[in-house]
Amino acid sequence: MTDKKGSKGTYYITTPIYYPSSNLHIGHTYCTVMADAMARFKRLSGYDVRFLTGTDEHGQKIQTLADAKGVTPQAYVDEVVDGIKKLWATMEISYDDFIRTTEPRHIRRVQKIFMKMYEKGDIYKGEYEGLYCTPCESFWTESQLVNGCCPDCGRPVQPAKEEAYFFKLSKYQDKLLDLFENNPEFLQPESRRNEMISFVKQGLDDLCISRSTFDWGIPVPIDEKHVIYVWLDALTNYITALGYPDEPELYDKYWPANVHLVGKEIVRFHTVIWPAMLMSADLPLPKQVLGHGWLLLGGEKVSKSKAAKGKDVVDPVILIDRYGIDALKYFLLREYTFGQDGVFTNEVMLKRMNYDLANDLGNLVSRTVSMIEKYCGGFVPESKTEDDIDRELKSIATGAAAKVETQMDKFAFNMALEEIWIVVRRANKYIDEKTPWILAKDPEKKAELDTVMHNLAETLRIVSVLIYPFMHTTSKEIRKQLGLWYSDVVWEDAFEFDMMYGEQVKKGDPIFPRLDIEKELEELSALGAAKDAPAAAEPENIPLELKPEIVYDDFDKIDFRVGTILSAEKHPKADKLLVFQVKLGTERRQIVSGVAEYFKPEEMVGKKVIVVANLKPRQLRGMESKGMLLFADNGDRCEIVTTIAEDGNPVT
Ligand code: ME8
Ligand code: MG
Repeated sequence: MTDKKGSKGTYYITTPIYYPSSNLHIGHTYCTVMADAMARFKRLSGYDVRFLTGTDEHGQKIQTLADAKGVTPQAYVDEVVDGIKKLWATMEISYDDFIRTTEPRHIRRVQKIFMKMYEKGDIYKGEYEGLYCTPCESFWTESQLVNGCCPDCGRPVQPAKEEAYFFKLSKYQDKLLDLFENNPEFLQPESRRNEMISFVKQGLDDLCISRSTFDWGIPVPIDEKHVIYVWLDALTNYITALGYPDEPELYDKYWPANVHLVGKEIVRFHTVIWPAMLMSADLPLPKQVLGHGWLLLGGEKVSKSKAAKGKDVVDPVILIDRYGIDALKYFLLREYTFGQDGVFTNEVMLKRMNYDLANDLGNLVSRTVSMIEKYCGGFVPESKTEDDIDRELKSIATGAAAKVETQMDKFAFNMALEEIWIVVRRANKYIDEKTPWILAKDPEKKAELDTVMHNLAETLRIVSVLIYPFMHTTSKEIRKQLGLWYSDVVWEDAFEFDMMYGEQVKKGDPIFPRLDIEKELEELSALGAAKDAPAAAEPENIPLELKPEIVYDDFDKIDFRVGTILSAEKHPKADKLLVFQVKLGTERRQIVSGVAEYFKPEEMVGKKVIVVANLKPRQLRGMESKGMLLFADNGDRCEIVTTIAEDGNPVT
């Protein structure tokens, strides 16, 4: 494997550097697990990979938390970072470097980058007046607020005024628009890109990049009374960790990054501020920023600030202790669709672990190994015959690697794993079709029996290669049981069949024990893990009377967006109509709906709603309606489709 290392060139991937304000939760784990799987996949397929993660340790929020605890900010972050590093070590996250923004190598380099931008004439002194959200370390203008609160996290903002340094972000507005419009790959998924295009089109203000109201930060090199804004400090980590500018060896090799993997709430920082900073410093831009969705718990984002308020968050440590790292990684990568939000529940997780891991994969391994022990004296035989069923298994098994590659190019981890499970399930079905226990009774069928055992071993060998990027310990365990301990995992081997002959198999413990879901749910909640919402009783199954069936292509034309209702009032000229002002990402629009008989205008304000955003605008009794709010018939009345119910739980 080492001889081809890097033959395909370099690949630099990063995660956000997380705030060490408290222990990390399942959301951070999700992002890091995706980055790790991609890094392992790229290494295995021949790239010279650099995988960076780290922690973002400065800023008001950390200082406040440390003060409250009566320790220095440095002592505070040291303790949390220790725990973060332990978590990644337990999970065997394969990062090449872990950068902390309090390290001297980072501090010195941030100051140099600041000076480059200053010398370019892009930094000037002015006065800042605005509304500040401390948890997000973001300044907002009145018009950006949603219901008077931070548009990102929904928490209250405080007025703030200070003398400060500004970065001429406005100067880069046109260049940024060019970037989004001429380079669609730069920001994906597409929906994020559209959001950013309209954000930049609304006009960019210069950015306040220094603070003087607290001192837990990197000093502005030209003015010691100020510290550098934490986002400016943090974003540079992607190049300071490569030694830019004073020890540029790694920088020269790996920059520009292939991918910055980030959560959707920080896409704006990575695709507007960061590229503008790089433009100012005359440096190349990252090739791609990918904004992934959120894991939700009870309809809300899993978040550290909710943990601080005593709300449930999902602690990865509890799950790893009980189920192992591979089961957790498999679940996170298989269950959620990249770019979209997904709901976390213990039950869905446990079912995945039971069905896909204990049943499908676990059974295939234990059946194959026991049968080779029983029918072939424990040694993998040669293939001796071949029929259509054998050929089909072989073609599905050797064809999977190319499909996995295609899905991984799109960061579609769930689909990549699905491709692998098609092989696993086909192999289980192959056993049932070939009924080796019957072949074994007839000495004349020995050649056929050998072929079946050989083909199963080969298929599992291929599976052990394919799953390596996602579940490397399970890959190794399968290879140990197959007697393949002597060889490295090589990606190209997944395209080959008939590589094994004479390996001695060795049965081990079940790779994934079957879980008693009811019992696990109880024990998880006793351990303080997040509780699932109670399941509703199953209703009787009576088919509904519906409009004529539509095909997927009809449905796919609709662009759904989540919006927030800013205001609602009765239509002055029509009793049945309500007129809504709705905020969709960066856009505000008016939507008129015929639901006045079901809803009072005041109960609608603040609701998160689903909007058909690309419906052709029309006039309703003299008022423009742009798009449509989704309502659904629940059997006896019309209900609004919303992402969060009044009690804060997901609408089911
Ligand atoms: O934003 N679901 O750090 P942070 C999915 N320091 N992913 C989630 C998540 C959830 N519920 N919650 C968090 C910061 N994440 C800055 C970054 S980068 C120069 C500076 C993941 O500790 C997701 O990747 O708030 C998100 O973007 C990141 O953690 C934010 O971590
Ligand atoms: Mg955050």
